[in-house]
Amino acid sequence: MGDIRFGIAGLGRLGKTHAMNIANTISGAQLVAACSVVEEELAFANNELGVNETYSTYEEMVNSPNIDAVCIVTPSGFHTEQICLAMEKGLHVFSEKPLGLEIEDIERTVETIQAHPDQVFQLGFMRRYDESYQYAKEMVDKGELGELTVIRCYGIDPSAGLESFVKFAKSNNSGGLFADMAIHDIDLVRWFSNKEVNRVWAMGKNAAYPELDDANELETGAAMMQLEDKTTAIIVAGRNAQHGYHVETELIGTKGMLRVAAVPEKNLVSVFNEHGVVRPTSQNFPERFKGAFLNEMKEFITCIKEKRQPDVSAYDGLQGTKIAAALQESVDKNQIVDVN
Ligand code: NAI
Repeated sequence: MGDIRFGIAGLGRLGKTHAMNIANTISGAQLVAACSVVEEELAFANNELGVNETYSTYEEMVNSPNIDAVCIVTPSGFHTEQICLAMEKGLHVFSEKPLGLEIEDIERTVETIQAHPDQVFQLGFMRRYDESYQYAKEMVDKGELGELTVIRCYGIDPSAGLESFVKFAKSNNSGGLFADMAIHDIDLVRWFSNKEVNRVWAMGKNAAYPELDDANELETGAAMMQLEDKTTAIIVAGRNAQHGYHVETELIGTKGMLRVAAVPEKNLVSVFNEHGVVRPTSQNFPERFKGAFLNEMKEFITCIKEKRQPDVSAYDGLQGTKIAAALQESVDKNQIVDVN
């Protein structure tokens, strides 16, 4: 099989990373088309990435006879419609998370995806493709931690972005802290445990920007989740890490425990100065998960060439969103919620 010819939808914060990976870094792929509602981004694709076909609408792009696959990196509210359209056009689909915002919409999309089993579908749960998480997963699957009893996940964005988030939240809906921020951690809990979540209790507090209360948004939240085999999962999600981008995971089992990125180190450097011993920390998701974004796209291309589906499925996207919705409901109602 020749190179897989991609069309990319969305060239914003994350879209540019995927576009550059497909165009410049990954072998076996070509970026031949791009669409965006921002003219400068299309000029960037054309001038910097050598993309010949640029479109201002997604519908025009998926009608191109020159693409085999789409990479969807548009705002989350567009994902379900764009996935279904590409599937119906016979294209392979890589879509960023979340699969969608509304459960019914996602269920319909999962049906459409499942009706096209010969086309590859992959959702952007890229942490599954991070080397450290893969190492940890292999240990868990080999039984080296024994039976899991507790999983603890932190996912906290840098404080540097909080002020602009507060402005955004006043007139937009992020989907809520858990759907927006904790969806990767929810996926990690299901992936490591191979179990579903039964019940959740979530809460949170706005301290730095109390006006977030009015937007029904949270600066920092926490949740306790009970899995079907009584494993406990604890999730902390936030938008106010002063030191940078903090993603940390702990797994506790009957034979041992492990932590991934207990300190979110940027590299192996330690600085010895008037502040003591300083370990620089990672500052954002493109930096921390650079390798994972590359690995997940390589896997998507390999799946197309080998005619198989990836480990991460549309069903994982549906379950993740159901759990995030239950967490939000728990915050809103201030009570424990069963996940259906
Ligand atoms: P962004 O706002 O920076 O970029 C959005 C892009 O979509 C822009 O290029 C815009 O022109 C384009 N766009 C908007 N409406 C469109 C339409 N109808 N058709 C075609 N293009 C359209 O957004 P960002 O931060 O890059 O996020 C995009 C998606 O990626 C979101 O779903 C988000 O949840 C996900 N994401 C995932 C991350 C991860 O860790 N896997 C990290 C950051 C974002």
